[in-house]
Amino acid sequence: MSLSMSNALECSATAASEHAPGVRGDQYRSALRRHPAGVTIVTLESGSGPVGFTATSFASLSLDPPLVSFNITDTSSSIGAVRSAESLVIHLLGEHQQHLAQRFARSAAERFSDESLWTRIESGEPVLHGTPVWLRVVVDRLIPLGDSTLVVGVVVRAHEDPNPAEGKRIPLLYHEGAYHRPVALEE
Ligand SMILES: Cc1cc2nc3c(=O)[nH]c(=O)nc-3n(C[C@H](O)[C@H](O)[C@H](O)COP(=O)(O)O)c2cc1C
Repeated sequence: MSLSMSNALECSATAASEHAPGVRGDQYRSALRRHPAGVTIVTLESGSGPVGFTATSFASLSLDPPLVSFNITDTSSSIGAVRSAESLVIHLLGEHQQHLAQRFARSAAERFSDESLWTRIESGEPVLHGTPVWLRVVVDRLIPLGDSTLVVGVVVRAHEDPNPAEGKRIPLLYHEGAYHRPVALEE
């Protein structure tokens, strides 16, 4: 993936369009594969059904106000729903939810087909059972950047499983194209 001239012209007037690309797409991908990330699933109600996808671009942004962000690629089948959403839920997955991370990165039509895996909270967003931590987020702004959209939201509810079963509070990580669990180092 190299940033072509046409793509560069499509970028908004940000740093992204002010610098010629210094790395090829394969170099960018190779370097960032080595950066580990916690795995999340973003879900929302589109008005015509639940929508969701696996995302490792989640980040905490600000404590006061409590802001978080994630990126969604503009080719995602979820982009229209995200652009229209007033609110959504970000699930911070546990290692026991690897199958959900895989499910929500595959066929969009089947992500919610097993109704035993999720329910709806009062505000309408789908929530996946057994998630150690999930955040309900009101969308604050959408910032188009390059081939993606940065979604910034205000956390209005932070749900933590009060009594997670043994092994269900260990986070799920993604690194070098594979799922991992963290291992603590000795001090
Ligand atoms: C570990 C992992 C992390 C991902 N992170 C993101 C992400 O942060 N943003 C994003 O738009 N897609 C991300 N994806 C891809 C989406 O989960 C999804 O597969 C992709 O948007 C294609 O979905 P679609 O078929 O509904 O268009 C990630 C996929 C995996 C496996």
